[in-house]
Amino acid sequence: MNILFMGPPGAGKGTQAERIVDEFQIPHISTGDALRLAVKLGTELGLKAKTFMDQGHLVPDDLMIGIVRERLQQDDCNKGFLLDGFPRTLSQAEALDEILASMGKQIDHVINLQVDRDRLLARLTGRRICRSCGSTYHVLFNPPHVEGVCDKCGGELYQRSDDNEESVGTRLDEYVTKTAPLLDYYRAKGILRQVDGEQEIDEVTNEIHSLLRGQA
Ligand code: AP5
Ligand code: MG
Ligand code: ZN
Repeated sequence: MNILFMGPPGAGKGTQAERIVDEFQIPHISTGDALRLAVKLGTELGLKAKTFMDQGHLVPDDLMIGIVRERLQQDDCNKGFLLDGFPRTLSQAEALDEILASMGKQIDHVINLQVDRDRLLARLTGRRICRSCGSTYHVLFNPPHVEGVCDKCGGELYQRSDDNEESVGTRLDEYVTKTAPLLDYYRAKGILRQVDGEQEIDEVTNEIHSLLRGQA
């Protein structure tokens, strides 16, 4: 099962991906997570990407396509994968099709999480992430049992450097101009599925499950 999650910043892609990959036992490929790791480790990629990310701009296509090509060629992707945050431009979508075709694969489901723009700012500015295991929380909508501490591993929770009002505004604009047009690309292929991302987190998960299990 090769799955792609789409939706604006804060739609819940990462939150839902954590749950779905657990259930289906496939790797979660988040280009945002990969970039944040590169920044943390201070690699060449990280150094190139950091300014774009902090300002809320997309990182150039050639860098992103290289990362994803390499990742999809790893053996654990043979049983399927869940891509979160890629593709984000038409060039990335076309490159992805080429990469997959060269491996005799294709995308089976594109799940688009729909959330109104006016809800996204609150979701993003209240988000907290575990420094150790990467789990996602929200100070109001999905709080940990103990403030600042991860339920799963006891790690410290932190706020992403691009989860401030200014970067969020740019990220949302980038989404509208560069990424939202991709929905038509996948609609035309007949693999686009819409999910109401404004429901409770568990309800969204249930809806995605039903779609993936072919019950909706
Ligand atoms: P990336 O890390 O992908 O960020 P994003 O697309 O902006 O998406 P987010 O991770 O912010 O949102 P999400 O949908 O995962 O929401 P989450 O589940 O956390 O990319 C970061 C940057 O990297 C980009 O800006 C760009 O610079 C670069 N980049 C990455 N990929 C790239 C690419 N392909 N090309 C070029 N550049 C690239 O949820 C958000 C919050 O809401 C959480 O606090 C959560 O608890 C809460 N929440 C979730 N669901 C619900 C719900 N149903 N109800 C209430 N609250 C909820
Ligand atoms: Mg995410
Ligand atoms: Zn943790």
